[in-house]
Amino acid sequence: MDMKTILNELDQIEDIPTLPVIAMEANKMLMDYNTSTKKLKQIIEKDQAMVPRMLKLVNSSFFGFQSRISNIEHAIVILGFNMIRNMIVSVSIIEAFSGKKGLKDFDMTRFWTHSVAVAVTSKYLSLKTRLHVHEDSFTAGLLHDIGKIVLFQYFHDFFIKAWRSSKENDISFYDAEKREIPADHAQIGAHLAWKWQFPAGLVDTIRWHHDVKEDVFDYNLLIIVHVADKIVNSLMSDSKKEIDLSGIYPDARKKMSSQLETAKDWFPQVNIEIQSACELFLNQL
Ligand SMILES: [Fe+2]
Ligand SMILES: [Fe+2]
Repeated sequence: MDMKTILNELDQIEDIPTLPVIAMEANKMLMDYNTSTKKLKQIIEKDQAMVPRMLKLVNSSFFGFQSRISNIEHAIVILGFNMIRNMIVSVSIIEAFSGKKGLKDFDMTRFWTHSVAVAVTSKYLSLKTRLHVHEDSFTAGLLHDIGKIVLFQYFHDFFIKAWRSSKENDISFYDAEKREIPADHAQIGAHLAWKWQFPAGLVDTIRWHHDVKEDVFDYNLLIIVHVADKIVNSLMSDSKKEIDLSGIYPDARKKMSSQLETAKDWFPQVNIEIQSACELFLNQL
């Protein structure tokens, strides 16, 4: 089987998660900076299940507002348009993938914890470097490894083959994928993101987060997620560990040198935010 075949097969799978209408619409708005608050409110209110969920999220301790936010319009005004539409996309995606059966060996909580960690760290990096809008960085970080779930769920034998090889040869899962199977999680995830009509910058970020290249749609978004992934992989389990700089694309390393040099100082604080973001997004798992 080659890569084309695997992606073709992916297109044939009937129960592949489709995004709920509301996420598709929120996602379309990600590309359209002229959408009004009123339009966003209308879209949310069309999906009655989404209204109480969004209100629960915005009133959670993660945001720490003193007074209660009781309607969507208020939530949009306070949290901002970008935050709300990104939250809709995030919540819908986590939900679309988490309710699926046949995932018993896949540690969903661990997967999403990593994804949320990269999301929060991407947000931090874009706020500090001003390389990108931080809400979009959060979403890109959250979705960067989405291909792994698809690989696990629909190409299970390939997943296991790569996973075993990574353990046996003591190499990264990504290196094992490239060695053992016809398509890796970056290719698969990007294909799905493209099918979902995600913005091109997001598709490219999912596609190239391990092998950075410069002629992509949104280079700054890509390097933020790329660096956040490396930081999380180094520091999440052991905050005293050194970050393996050699795995980081040289130009990204240069652009974020001060954040990389001080990562051990700021990451513990970001880690606290990661924990509360996990509580917020993952309590539905
Ligand atoms: Fe990855
Ligand atoms: Fe990752």
